[in-house]
Amino acid sequence: MYRLVCVECGESFPPDEILYQCTRCGHLLAVEYDLETIDVDLAAWKRRPLSVWRYREILPVSIEPVSLQEGGTPLYHLSRIGEEIGVPHLYAKHEGMNPTGSFKDRGMTVGVSMALQLGRTSVACASTGNTSASLAAYAAKAGIPAVVLLPAGKVALGKVAQALMHGARVLSIRGNFDKALEMVHELCLSHGLYLLNSVNPFRLEGQKTIGFEALDQLGEVPDRMVLPVGNAGNISAVYKGFTELMTLGRMDRIPMMTGIQASGSSPVVRAIHEGLPEVIPDANPETVATAIRIGAPVNAEKALAAIRKTGGTAESVTDGEILSMQRDLARKEGIGVEPASAASVAGVKRLRDMGAIDRDEKIVCVVTGHLLKDPETVIRQCEPPLEIDADLPSLLSALQRS
Ligand code: F0G
Repeated sequence: MYRLVCVECGESFPPDEILYQCTRCGHLLAVEYDLETIDVDLAAWKRRPLSVWRYREILPVSIEPVSLQEGGTPLYHLSRIGEEIGVPHLYAKHEGMNPTGSFKDRGMTVGVSMALQLGRTSVACASTGNTSASLAAYAAKAGIPAVVLLPAGKVALGKVAQALMHGARVLSIRGNFDKALEMVHELCLSHGLYLLNSVNPFRLEGQKTIGFEALDQLGEVPDRMVLPVGNAGNISAVYKGFTELMTLGRMDRIPMMTGIQASGSSPVVRAIHEGLPEVIPDANPETVATAIRIGAPVNAEKALAAIRKTGGTAESVTDGEILSMQRDLARKEGIGVEPASAASVAGVKRLRDMGAIDRDEKIVCVVTGHLLKDPETVIRQCEPPLEIDADLPSLLSALQRS
C-alpha cells in the first residue's frame, strides 16, 4: 500500500523498516502510496468529522490510532487585518486549537501510532517546545515512556510545563535545538527509541492534513499557503499532501507555498533569495519566536522544492513585526497565538508591502501554536494589571485614569 522513498535518489524501502534517512545517499525519506490502487472515497471524507482521521485512507496507520481528537481546527477570516494590509481574502487556520495547543498533535497522533504499529516501546524527540509537549501527551495516551531534549533556557514556559506534567523525561541541554536534534538522533539509533522529530517521515503524514482541512473548509483551492518555518517539516508536509490530492484529482493546482522565518534565524529565506541549491545553516539563530529558533532545518531540501515548484517564496520578518502582529491578531481578530505563529501573518503584511502579493489573492496562513504557550512573552508586551483598593470609587477613578 505504501513504501518509504528517498527524495533524492528514489531508492525505496519497505514500510516496516525503521529509517530516518536513505541508507544509500543519506537524504530524507517520504511515504509514497499507491494512489491508483487505494480506494479513496472523496464523498465519504465529506461525511466524516473534520479531523486528521477523516483522511485515513492516505495515512500509514492500520492499527486503532493513538488519538486525542486532533485536527478539526477553525479557519478564521481575518477581516480587519486583511482589510488593513490590503488582502481582503486572508484566512488563518488556528492550529493552536489542537489538544496540546499546536499543529504537532497532527504529527504525533500518526507518529506515536506508528511507533506502536512498528513494535516500539519508547519514543524521543528534540524540541523547541511544542513537539515535546505533544509527544509527552501522546506517549502518555499510548502508555509508553518519552524522552525529550530541550535547548536550556530557550523554551517557552507553557511548553515545558506540558512536557513535565504529561510525564516525559525532560532534559535541557547546554546547546541549541540543532545540537539537541543531533544528540537525540544518535540516542535513538544506538538505543532503539523511536525518533519523532520531523525527519520521521510518518510524522509529517499527519501534518499534511492541515492543507486538506483548509481546502475542505474554504471550499476551493487558496492561491497561497503561508507557514512559519523552523525545521521546515510542516511546509513540506502540507505541500506533499497537496501533490497527493492532485494525483487523486481533488485539486487542479497547488497553492504558492510561502515560508516565513524570523530575521535572526532565516537560512531557508536566504537560500530562496540567493537561489542556492541547499541552505547554509545559521550557527547562532536568535529570535523572540523561540519555536522557530532553528539554524539548520533538517527538512530544508523538501521545503525548498515545495516553494520552488509552486512559484511560492520565502521571506523574513523582524521580532518587532512578529510581536506587533501577535498583538493585532489578539486585539483586532480575537485570535491568540504564540510569536512563531504570528510570523506567518506578519510575513503576508511584509510581502504585500513589498508588492509581492496581489490584493485579490486568497491566502491561508497557518497559525501554529496557542497564545498560552508563551505567557512570559505576552506579559512582557502588556501593561500589568493595576492593583486598586476593593471599593467602587477606587475602581471609577482607576477607569478614568486609563
Ligand atoms: N510554529 C510553531 C509554533 C512551532 O512550534 C514550530 C516548530 C514551527 C512553527 C515550525 O514548524 O519546524 O515544521 O518548520 N516547532 C518544533 C518544535 C521545531 O520542536 O516544537 P517546522
